[in-house]
Amino acid sequence: MRGYRADPDPYPNYRWLQENAPACLMASAGTDEATCFVTSYELSRAALLDQRLSVDPRRSGSADPAAAAGDRSVLDTDPPDHGRMRRVVNHAFSQSAVDALRPRIAEICREAIAAFAGRGQADLMAEYALLVPVAVIHEILGVPPAEREDPAVFMDMFWRAVVAREPEPEATEFVDGYVTRILDHKRAHPGDDVTTALLRALDGGQLRDESELRGMLAAMLGPGHSTTIPLLASGIVRLLQHPDQLGKAVADPRRWPDVVEELLRHDSVVQASANRYALEDLAIGDVQVPRGSTVLMSLAAANRDPARFEHPDAFDIDRPRQTHLSFGYGTHFCLGAHLGRAEGEVALATLFEALPDLRLTVPAEEIVWTFGPMLRGPAEVPAAFTPGGAA
Ligand code: HEM
Repeated sequence: MRGYRADPDPYPNYRWLQENAPACLMASAGTDEATCFVTSYELSRAALLDQRLSVDPRRSGSADPAAAAGDRSVLDTDPPDHGRMRRVVNHAFSQSAVDALRPRIAEICREAIAAFAGRGQADLMAEYALLVPVAVIHEILGVPPAEREDPAVFMDMFWRAVVAREPEPEATEFVDGYVTRILDHKRAHPGDDVTTALLRALDGGQLRDESELRGMLAAMLGPGHSTTIPLLASGIVRLLQHPDQLGKAVADPRRWPDVVEELLRHDSVVQASANRYALEDLAIGDVQVPRGSTVLMSLAAANRDPARFEHPDAFDIDRPRQTHLSFGYGTHFCLGAHLGRAEGEVALATLFEALPDLRLTVPAEEIVWTFGPMLRGPAEVPAAFTPGGAA
């Protein structure tokens, strides 16, 4: 993948912080303000539930006008408006709606595999992990293949516009332009899809204005691309690193949900929550957080907190199920959690069933992990297998 920098293993630093300063004040790049950074599981979960912490930069009293600009979505709106917006799309991402999609997800996976199966080698990041979630979210949004942006280009632009510390104006323009193109297309070609549901919600008053319409579409398009991709890529790497555990899932497909839960915990794709802003003076652990300050929960650190998970650095699909924070917690719990889980289960099961002798062509330790600091996953997954496989 282009444009991403290598991301050194952050987990030793998280552990040090957990042991020495489970909530701490961290200098924020480019400002005099300190951000409260939380690495303990208990403190993070409590903070995610704390109504005195807002996701809305407009309520933060922030002097930074850029922080308060832009389209609005569930991601940066507090209750009660948050619930009004989320109800427009909740049904499309429910457990039953996602279960109905599983056969189609499997078909998309088999098509992707068929494109490289004859070659005997592939970069499973670019040719599988990237393609499957992109196809799935576009189908849900009702965007036909001819209208879709190149997935690698979109991911690159999304990263530069939304995830990077310093958003690049051309990238922001590109992502905005893609949202406009999708809305124009769906206005002209409505269907039984989520974008059409958003357009109807605007007409029906459940969404207030164009900013909410655009923000909601972007809130599904971006996370629909950027999260499940690293989940699949890290899943392939971890399973090839742990053939005993892969063997258990291949022998008994009922174990795929255990694989995905452990992956979500062990390799948190979304490393930290979105910014929270203190609406009043408050304390997190021993740290005093003045009104207006930014608070960030490290979901990745929380998911490897030894106070919560035994042997937290071990990848172990047999560990007892305990709630992790990979999809967040509370009001902003991930809208796409059922979808992310289903894509993980179906895509990994389909791949390892189709290519039973799949292997990495470089030592797993040499794979570069990237996207940081907010997202994390392998940059490339070079693999080989006996030519053939699914059709
Ligand atoms: C492995 C896959 C995924 C992971 C790990 C993930 C992770 C997260 C996390 C951590 C949050 C909460 C952020 C916070 O509270 O600050 C979140 C929220 C959200 N995610 Fe996901 N996500 C995934 C897949 C998806 C997909 C496929 C979609 C597409 C619809 C999606 C859409 C959203 C939306 C719209 C929100 C905001 C929900 C709200 O504010 O009510 N996510 N996700």
